[in-house]
Amino acid sequence: MKARVLSGVQPSGQLHLGNYLGALKNWAEIQSDYESIFCIVDLHAITVYQDPQELTSKIRETAALFIAAGIDPKESSIVVQSSVSGHAELAWMLTCVTPLGWLNRMTQFKAKAEKQATVGAGLLQYPVLMAADILVYQAKIVPVGEDQSQHLELARDIAQRFNSMYGATFIMPETRLPAVGARIMGLDDPTTKMSKSATGANHAIALLDEPGVIRKKIARATTDSEPAVDPENMGPGVANLLTIAHACDPSVTKSVVAGMRYGDFKKLVAEAVISRLKPIQQKYREITADAGYIDSVLVEGQQRVLPIAEDTIKKVKTAMGLYVARR
Ligand code: TYM
Repeated sequence: MKARVLSGVQPSGQLHLGNYLGALKNWAEIQSDYESIFCIVDLHAITVYQDPQELTSKIRETAALFIAAGIDPKESSIVVQSSVSGHAELAWMLTCVTPLGWLNRMTQFKAKAEKQATVGAGLLQYPVLMAADILVYQAKIVPVGEDQSQHLELARDIAQRFNSMYGATFIMPETRLPAVGARIMGLDDPTTKMSKSATGANHAIALLDEPGVIRKKIARATTDSEPAVDPENMGPGVANLLTIAHACDPSVTKSVVAGMRYGDFKKLVAEAVISRLKPIQQKYREITADAGYIDSVLVEGQQRVLPIAEDTIKKVKTAMGLYVARR
């Protein structure tokens, strides 16, 4: 039997190059080696307010981008988190075994909470729901970008604690980072990671950005005061652009760009990104032209994974002594 893979993306904001290079690209590459489940985590998205209409369309848009990026819905299950109630159900049970101190230590919680006038309890619970996403399917491999590493350590801690309190129930999930692109930085500020919620117009490259927009954003990307690329002494902005270009086109390496003036270097980076995104954008347009297609993929995904989640919930209920109907 193939080991199971699980990962997810929030359907909030615009999916960007960091999401693609840190996660989706890796998913597409490994999907056939595993039994893969990729989730659109709408319950995570609502930990901060989302406009309801926008969220509804973002869920389908995110699913379409998964497929456009190479996730094959015949091979992998594409699932909306809220369509399988086991995620939220298990999250509650795991909440009851998670010490509050573990959650207060999460760096993403601290960073996000600072930006909110009122901090919803869901924001603190966020990593417990993430642990539930993984554990409800007994996933072995979790391919993510580096920013999710701390959450995955917590998921393992929660699984271990549950197992020691109630008996062996969950298998331990492993974090799988991509070799290149685990942490793509913002173009406008290479000291912060590229993120969906950042506001700067030149911060992120959206997966659906037109070539002209991509060229402009990369042309304006922060570099340093040197005139040309020195591979032995690259500032964070230049290093980030090289990582992006290399992840998009492996033939772009340090030795290829050595000595290039920044203007030419940026053109090379932009063309590598544009050629990588072109087929994705083309496929996205094809998929979204068929109104019913995404919905059929999401129903099929849900139906495929429901029995796995139900089986885990039953095991967890039994282990904890909760009510399980006898028929
Ligand atoms: P999210 O939606 O913020 O990001 C989705 C994926 O993209 C990766 N990523 C990046 N990788 C490299 N560089 C970046 N700048 C960058 N920004 C984002 C993320 O690491 C992630 O893999 N909590 C998660 C979603 C989630 C999940 C899960 C993931 C919910 N449940 C269970 C794995 C397993 C999140 O908000 O990802």
